[in-house]
Amino acid sequence: MPGDLKDLPCAARNPDLPLHPDSSYLLVGGLGGIGRSISLSLVLNGAKHLIFLSRSGRNEKNEHFLKELEALGCRVQVFAGSVANIDDVKNLVAKAEKPIRGVIQLSMALQVSFLPFVLLESSQINFEF
Ligand SMILES: NC(=O)c1ccc[n+]([C@@H]2O[C@H](COP(=O)([O-])OP(=O)(O)OC[C@H]3O[C@@H](n4cnc5c(N)ncnc54)[C@H](OP(=O)(O)O)[C@@H]3O)[C@@H](O)[C@H]2O)c1
Repeated sequence: MPGDLKDLPCAARNPDLPLHPDSSYLLVGGLGGIGRSISLSLVLNGAKHLIFLSRSGRNEKNEHFLKELEALGCRVQVFAGSVANIDDVKNLVAKAEKPIRGVIQLSMALQVSFLPFVLLESSQINFEF
């Protein structure tokens, strides 16, 4: 490790992604923070069809971002649903305009709460106090 961080060798990595313009790539939870960066990277590397699955679906908060992808020549399909619901997943697979060649799982839900409340809500555990 060099004493001065400026002496640390650094090289930009530009992976050659073998993306297929005739296939779809599914991003579960892809309209969140990291998903947007990954989506843009996929499109800039040749992806032409992206599918998004999130519980809230297309809305005013992500409309501008989706329009940006479309302006870059990407066809976008957005499905409102949960990855935890098999019917939601089957529905999007059936409606995908192009065969799905890749799936990136990005969904998560954080819950911050007083501990006993989290346990009761999340696990339906019965506590006796
Ligand atoms: N941000 C970080 O610093 C960081 C660091 C390391 C790893 N990660 C991991 O990277 C992933 C993405 O992080 P992020 O920061 O982009 O998170 P984020 O902004 O919260 O995005 C997650 C997305 O997942 C969707 N989602 C949640 N539950 C879902 C479900 N049941 N079905 C479908 N979609 C669902 C949410 O949309 P809806 O609410 O509309 O469903 C949300 O837009 C997570 O798995 C996280 O653990 C993040």
